[in-house]
Amino acid sequence: MERTLAIIKPDAVGRNLAGNIIARLQGEGFVVLGLKMIRLSQDDAKRFYAVHRERPFFDSLTAYMASGPIIPLLLQRDEAIKTLRDVMGATDPSQAAPGTLRQEFGVDVEKNSIHGSDSPASAAQEIPFFFSQLACHEAEPR
Ligand code: RTP
Ligand code: MG
Repeated sequence: MERTLAIIKPDAVGRNLAGNIIARLQGEGFVVLGLKMIRLSQDDAKRFYAVHRERPFFDSLTAYMASGPIIPLLLQRDEAIKTLRDVMGATDPSQAAPGTLRQEFGVDVEKNSIHGSDSPASAAQEIPFFFSQLACHEAEPR
């Protein structure tokens, strides 16, 4: 079993798509070990997406991620990291394959509805940004 971090982004939370997206993820075999709804400050968003700080879209991305509530999810499955990326689809919803979450729900290349950790190293950094070790253990299915 592997864990990964997903975030339902402000565009999707704002359009009441969270329940639908969570149901889709559970339908793909992900177990939800952690879930919360929070609103980031732009400084929080800059820390989370620090890897992109030199990119031209950094200020816009971090303003967007702070523009409304988000729902971080701690997810578990076999091959969770790769599977989540596959289920999400390409960054730009107009390029995302049919049946992917971004193709179905994304608005544009920025407002693309969902984030997913892109590697084991990213997941190891991103999970504790939102979830404590205690919360992870308490949520283990029995
Ligand atoms: P994420 O990190 O959110 O899962 O998305 P990703 O790996 O598919 O894409 P990444 O390159 O890591 O970009 C992070 C997020 O920045 C926004 N973005 N805007 N305006 C643009 O050209 C542009 N490119 C990326 C998107 O919200 C993207 O998901
Ligand atoms: Mg990324």
